[in-house]
Amino acid sequence: MSKFYAKTSDEITELEKANLEQVRSYASECMVLLENDGTLPLSEEKKELAVFGNGVRHTVKGGTGSGEVNSRGAVTIEQGLKDAGITITTKDWLDRYDEVLKEAERAYREQLERIAKERNMPVFQASFECQMENPKIPEITEEDLEKTDGDTAVYVLARNSGEGTDRHYEKGDYLLSDEEAAAIHLLGQKFSHVIVLLNTGGIIDATAIKCTPGISALLLVGQSGDVGGSVVADVLYGRKVPSGKLTDTWAVSYKDYPSSAEFSHNNGNVDDEYYREGIFVGYRYFDTFGIKPQYCFGFGRSYTNFSIQTVSVKADEKQVILDVEVTNTGSVYSGKEVVQVYYSAPEGILEKPYQELAAFAKTRLLSPGEKQRMEIRFATTDMASYDTEEASYKLEEGEYLLRVGNSSRNTSVAAVLFLPQTTVVQKLRNAFSDEEQFEELSKKDAVSIHSVNERDQKWDAVKIMLSPRAFETRSVLYQTERVELTNQQPQKKLTLEDVRKGKATVQQLTAQLTVEELATLCVGRFAKEKEGKATIIGTASVSAPGAAADTNDFLFKTRKIPNLILADGPAGLRLQPHFITNGRGQLLDGGQGFGKEMVPFPEKLPKGAKHYYQYCTAIPIATNLAQSWNMPLIEKMGEIVGREMSEYHIDLWLAPGMNIHRNPLCGRNFEYYSEDPLLSGRCAAAGTNGVQSTGNHGTTLKHFAGNNQEDNRMFCNSHISERALREIYLKGFEIAIRESQPYALMTSYNLLNGTHSANNYELLEMCARNEWGFYGVVMTDWCTTMEPSAWLVDKIQYPQASSAGCIAAGNDLIMPGCQKDVDDIVQAVQEGDEITIADLQYCVVHILQSILRCTA
Ligand code: BGC
Repeated sequence: MSKFYAKTSDEITELEKANLEQVRSYASECMVLLENDGTLPLSEEKKELAVFGNGVRHTVKGGTGSGEVNSRGAVTIEQGLKDAGITITTKDWLDRYDEVLKEAERAYREQLERIAKERNMPVFQASFECQMENPKIPEITEEDLEKTDGDTAVYVLARNSGEGTDRHYEKGDYLLSDEEAAAIHLLGQKFSHVIVLLNTGGIIDATAIKCTPGISALLLVGQSGDVGGSVVADVLYGRKVPSGKLTDTWAVSYKDYPSSAEFSHNNGNVDDEYYREGIFVGYRYFDTFGIKPQYCFGFGRSYTNFSIQTVSVKADEKQVILDVEVTNTGSVYSGKEVVQVYYSAPEGILEKPYQELAAFAKTRLLSPGEKQRMEIRFATTDMASYDTEEASYKLEEGEYLLRVGNSSRNTSVAAVLFLPQTTVVQKLRNAFSDEEQFEELSKKDAVSIHSVNERDQKWDAVKIMLSPRAFETRSVLYQTERVELTNQQPQKKLTLEDVRKGKATVQQLTAQLTVEELATLCVGRFAKEKEGKATIIGTASVSAPGAAADTNDFLFKTRKIPNLILADGPAGLRLQPHFITNGRGQLLDGGQGFGKEMVPFPEKLPKGAKHYYQYCTAIPIATNLAQSWNMPLIEKMGEIVGREMSEYHIDLWLAPGMNIHRNPLCGRNFEYYSEDPLLSGRCAAAGTNGVQSTGNHGTTLKHFAGNNQEDNRMFCNSHISERALREIYLKGFEIAIRESQPYALMTSYNLLNGTHSANNYELLEMCARNEWGFYGVVMTDWCTTMEPSAWLVDKIQYPQASSAGCIAAGNDLIMPGCQKDVDDIVQAVQEGDEITIADLQYCVVHILQSILRCTA
């Protein structure tokens, strides 16, 4: 019989209440005010609103797939406004939209059932492959308008996306549908004020909205979890101020993104993705190539205005320290400002982007007239670039401009650092050769942006000379040898308890295990009756139903090695909110699933059936969190998740997700933070520190690495140059590992330059462990080693990842696996050409160390 930690009453718990309150108090900081002609905030007198759009009553709280949190329920924008005492005058229109949606959902359900039947897969799996299209919104009629006061209208445009499929550059997705465009246009004509709210998990065509006549305000509310609707009401009425800044470049046109022509399905090839833009991702591209965005990286307005003054800049060969003063220069509203520091490195042998984010800091809430002094620091060597020819990070000779401001396109030069000679600051080994050489974008003929008075700014800026000889050159000790552990205490059968008590070491215990035992420990627990066949969602935990999987506990009786329980995120903790056991305490079928696709409970419950509840809090999606640019806030959100992990006994949170927003259409961008690696890394570190401060449990950074496309995600080969990998796609992981030492890392499904990430020794051992000092456990993404046919993929260009390959690469845990994985590993050890017992022991040591860490 399992022990459950869930509640036996479905009443809202004190923990839930406290968590929801906390999220509500912070979430306005994650919303970005893009346009405002003074309409916002609305006056408290304004008690009536005309509200249209697909996100009013069906506000999206977060995306779909494994990232969807099963919370008690989210406050919609309609509800949030009603709770704030607002009368909604457009109920008829909202009711008509309900009808349209109901019909669309019915048709979608039919479509899923058909696909599921045709392809012999569960319905929820079909929902990963086929997202529901947004139904056409009903027309806004004269009668609808007559019921309003014609003064202020709010239009809520919602988009959902999720795991398994990419978004489309089509009307109704990236673009507005004709009906949406017509509705917003009509509102612009008929109302004195029109506020458009974007309830999206990522970028859409904001140009179309901005260009519509009569639009007064545009607010990116994003997807804020359970309290979204309440926070929107708070912000519209100025009870809370928005202080978010974009973490991506919002282009004038999708085609302006350098990867747009070839991204995912756009070129009809989902097998190979060539990252031709190299390091020129996001603003690094737009600024260097002089392309005007609609809204630049780091941009966001406030209800008030600020001035930023750089008081002093100090720099030496170790660090740069800026002292800045921010003043709220407005007279009515309080607000928070984000000071952003960018550097422009000199052109040398290596091409450089026009500028890169070096550091940032957010003020506290400043009242009108109030000032705050802040110190912003970063390591001088952070400005180095990777030279693949010499496998090293270098600061090239010349001028380093430091730009300070409140967005990437609103800065001024505060300092010029001068380095007279190119200096190597770190010596590494190249790890990612791509056999298929492809040409990367070069800035040869590019005309970058330039500020008209840059010369004057440079003239006035602080000048600092750096000494090449004062820099340290760091190098890395690459440990390649894995020594076989031998059993030195054959007379005593060691247990993990002995290790815990200091009577033996993890290595001594590991040395006593047979190859079969070692291999089984390296494979996540799988249901006995399903032996030989992995299940897509894995074996939900025995004690926390709805968790994504457990590690193997088959040695619990004999060696006291317990299992670890792993549950999804990133927008909260994903568990099954309601489950039922029979009179013998055994779990009954029902209640598990994704979104609305829940397995029904038995119609007739057995005698002695017992109900359990484990509602968790849906926090804002990762992109929203990052938009706060507030690391203590993200840490607090991590604490919320951490406290729920303690409550329900979860050991590893399968989050944060931290892949780079390379292209707006990636279906899982909402689970990730930004197009910028520094910001992504700092956010993941803050979230990890929050989670890990609340108990003996940890985070799992995912998806490591190069998972920037969802179509064909298991078998897509990401071709990325060594430099782009190191400076853009791996940088965030490196920062998060160095700053927060997460308990775990999850590899991605895709291949990286021809090798599955799961089987990539260079990625896991050379980079994560040797270069960055990661000492936690590495696991695969779910069922990575499963046969392509089990994924129901008919035609693949590249083979699946191999289980023995995982062990060789230092990918300790195959999550969740099956008997075939165990057999393959054992066979590979016996044959001895791909892996040895030392390799297997090496992985088991990491697993046992993680179990000790989680069960301390
Ligand atoms: C997703 C992971 C998730 C895992 C477990 C996979 O399909 O890619 O992000 O953690 O499932 O649910």
